[in-house]
Amino acid sequence: TILVLDFGSQTSHLILRRLRALRVYAEMLPCTAKLADLTWKPKGIVLSGGPSSVYDEGSPHVDPAVFELGVPILGICYGCQEIAWQSNSENVARGTAREYGHADVTIHKVDSHADRLFAGLGETMHAYMSHFDKLVRLPEGFVVVAKTANSEFAGIAHQTKPIFGVQFHPELEHTPRGKELLRNFSVDICGAQPNWEMSDFIEQEITRIRKLVGDKAQVIGAVSGGVDSTVAAKLMTEAIGDRFHAVHIDNGLMRLNESEKVKVTLKEHLGINLTVIDGTKLFLDRLKGVTEPEKKRKIIGETFIDLFEEEAIRIEKEAENTPNAGKVSWFLQGTLYPDVIESLSFKGPSATIKTHHNVGGLPKRMMDGQGLRLLEPLRELFKDEVRDLGRRLKIHEDLVNRFPFPGPGIGVRILGECTPERIEIARQADNIFISMIKEANIYNEISQAYAGLDTSKAVGVMGDTRVYGYIIILRAVTTSDFMSAEPYEFPFALLKAIARRIVNEVDGVSRVTYDLSSKPPGTIELE
Ligand code: XMP
Repeated sequence: TILVLDFGSQTSHLILRRLRALRVYAEMLPCTAKLADLTWKPKGIVLSGGPSSVYDEGSPHVDPAVFELGVPILGICYGCQEIAWQSNSENVARGTAREYGHADVTIHKVDSHADRLFAGLGETMHAYMSHFDKLVRLPEGFVVVAKTANSEFAGIAHQTKPIFGVQFHPELEHTPRGKELLRNFSVDICGAQPNWEMSDFIEQEITRIRKLVGDKAQVIGAVSGGVDSTVAAKLMTEAIGDRFHAVHIDNGLMRLNESEKVKVTLKEHLGINLTVIDGTKLFLDRLKGVTEPEKKRKIIGETFIDLFEEEAIRIEKEAENTPNAGKVSWFLQGTLYPDVIESLSFKGPSATIKTHHNVGGLPKRMMDGQGLRLLEPLRELFKDEVRDLGRRLKIHEDLVNRFPFPGPGIGVRILGECTPERIEIARQADNIFISMIKEANIYNEISQAYAGLDTSKAVGVMGDTRVYGYIIILRAVTTSDFMSAEPYEFPFALLKAIARRIVNEVDGVSRVTYDLSSKPPGTIELE
């Protein structure tokens, strides 16, 4: 196992992800973790990047014992500065310019010991830099193994000890050969075995959950029927059986027959202890006359919590009467790593774009009031890893590959008011659109697709009469991370066939449009 000590960079988890992709197992702890508390000895230690300045008072520092352990160390960005600072605090200074973006790294050959980190990487490599502070002096005993135009100490290595530092970020995709560098470090330098598998994650996570929850406490969690919450729920069921209570709330804004399908799949196929609550009436009553997107989201979110809270109290009461089970004291959330990053960046200017994050989903009154603690077994995984996990948990391929579906459902795909009539029209159109995508065998080429509804109506002619009909907006995008996206390039004949079927089969629709916007500036959902 490699130990990653986290100084709080938004990319720290990517280090774990890259190591896992190399099949090297790694665990992350806060940078201030005391080595004496560890029950295992790491094969190597990575010091991550971080937002602070090493020389500022109150900045985080590692336990000096890290340097006494005798295992290889790799410092990345702040981690590299930390290595230099630990040797002499005057080695690091505030930069004069922020170095941000791509840089060409020139690799310097020194000797067989110092060159190990960059072994096999040739003479230059592209790298991604993002730093302000920098090394101004080489720490004692170190040599330079890489430079950039702006950074004399882009890569350093100790002359005799296995201690290395890089100023750039090998964990980012923008450093294309960073994976090889991390492989050199973890496998060749640390001697870690590249034999970790996702099935190991299942076992480790089940053990961790059992230990955390104990043998009496109960856990509740909401499931939407999407891949993340289903995988998290299945993992919980494997760990603690029926002491995990899944709750699915039908908010009246699900896709056609979706809540029914969720019930069959989760309860009958996957054996999850599931309660389905039909909240349609309450949600739609509260949404009556509401057209403002953020207000809609807020109402949907609050109504969800009201119903969920009621159900949690009911489960709690029931639990009191079961002899072998204890209090409901945990709340399961299927948060993935990208949700964690996006909501961290929520402190920044992106905060007001959309409030769509599930992170920290329950209000304080519920978490504190009922003493619920948050359980997030997927917190370190990325979507493709969750899919892999889902397959290993024997979740059907259809569900594992399903397009993401937002919490507020088609509520954010219907511009304007969510009336029963408008919801039904969007649902029917969506059902035709998605089934034609599946029939054309292109479902896996698209990242997310749906049929939404425009605010107003448009004139059309049907038969001999002039009608005033709804306008359907089709949206289909490709993306790797959902932060940016491109419209999918349908064969035009297929697009026309889809439009024809929707107009013919969905009563009240007179026009169909295809949304050609990229994200940014367009978002994936309409609201
Ligand atoms: P946008 O529309 O922001 O969507 O480009 C990016 C991804 O986030 C999903 N999304 C949501 N998910 N609650 C959710 O759980 C929301 O309110 C929400 N809004 C957007 C969207 O489906 C896409 O995958």
